[in-house]
Amino acid sequence: MAIAQPAARPANPRFSSGPCAKPPVFDLAKLSDAPLGRSHRAAVGKDKLLAAIEGTRELLNIPADYKIGIVPASDTGAVEMAMWNLLGERKVEMLAWESFGAGWVTDVVKQLKIDAEVKTADYGQIVDLASVDFANDVVFTWNGTTSGVRVPNGDWIAADRAGLTICDATSAAFAQDLPWDKLDVTTFSWQKVLGGEAAHGMIILSPRAVARLESYTPAWPLPKIFRLTKGGKLIDGIFKGATINTPSMLAVEDYLLALDWARSVGGLEGLIARADANAKAVFDFCDAKPWIANLAEDPATRSNTSVCLKFTDARIQDGAAFAKAVAKRLEAEEVALDVGAYRDAPAGLRIWCGGTVETADIEAMLPWLEWAFEAEIAAQG
Ligand SMILES: Cc1ncc(COP(=O)(O)O)c(C=O)c1O
Repeated sequence: MAIAQPAARPANPRFSSGPCAKPPVFDLAKLSDAPLGRSHRAAVGKDKLLAAIEGTRELLNIPADYKIGIVPASDTGAVEMAMWNLLGERKVEMLAWESFGAGWVTDVVKQLKIDAEVKTADYGQIVDLASVDFANDVVFTWNGTTSGVRVPNGDWIAADRAGLTICDATSAAFAQDLPWDKLDVTTFSWQKVLGGEAAHGMIILSPRAVARLESYTPAWPLPKIFRLTKGGKLIDGIFKGATINTPSMLAVEDYLLALDWARSVGGLEGLIARADANAKAVFDFCDAKPWIANLAEDPATRSNTSVCLKFTDARIQDGAAFAKAVAKRLEAEEVALDVGAYRDAPAGLRIWCGGTVETADIEAMLPWLEWAFEAEIAAQG
């Protein structure tokens, strides 16, 4: 039977998994210090770019001897730049358990034509991490945004590895602990956990990744926007804010604002606590309702950012149509925007729980989810 609409609405219904909600303090007027119409190579622009790099280092506790660069084409650009520059020196293992990881497999196998060992798992599951051989280069996604399945921690990564780890951490950075000693290349983009603007990627290189860059030249051509070395040496300027091509100084200003907000909520620890509290509110809701469940089967792998849900009620006639209709009702009521499952993922919902989302908004949204579910069950007739 349909139920009455809840009385309260979330103050902010933005639960999209990318671009994600802006920090609660966001206001366009706060970007007025952006050096617009100036060269990004002028001192004012370079200082801002360097502040973005060093602010990232400070907030994510990245070691001083790791290189941090702002690169073109968002997280995809950063991951592809890493793979194109570094792979081919030794055997490669590709780990994938959802759509983005699968995309990196396609890049490596079909485009770079590397005979990689590919380990995959279905949506909701994770590959056998204990089976990974770290004599190989290993490419994986820390938090699978489209399945809501994350690696539980970095314990499975060998400390004394001979190969490199290349980690797409775009929906994990600023929400989950990343063990830098286990990660040789880490990438993310600004529009995910910090709710920044899209376009730029971040690439973080360990000293071992830099050593590979300086000692190995891949067999395939590298376009200019991927090139990190010149004459066999790292182009150091890239890691001091001298970007490969022109960045958006408005996006940089917005990222600096997001970093300031992150400091104001307690830095990384505060951001992790916010994401954990948001995700827990959704997990508790699922535990209390027999008709909905987390897509991630093992609780240790449940994402605290891209929480993916599936409907489990036997009365549902067409799973895909049902989930779409629920998301549509939530959107029409303006209580939850963009919460449909990713297009390649199993039917369901995906609720972004990263730190820019307020727990009170998650809590106000969940009764609406129950309302929309009951309304759709009733509508099936
Ligand atoms: C795990 C993962 N990798 C890569 C991407 C692509 O990111 P971008 O659009 O920043 O290139 C996304 C986007 O959602 C993602 O979730």
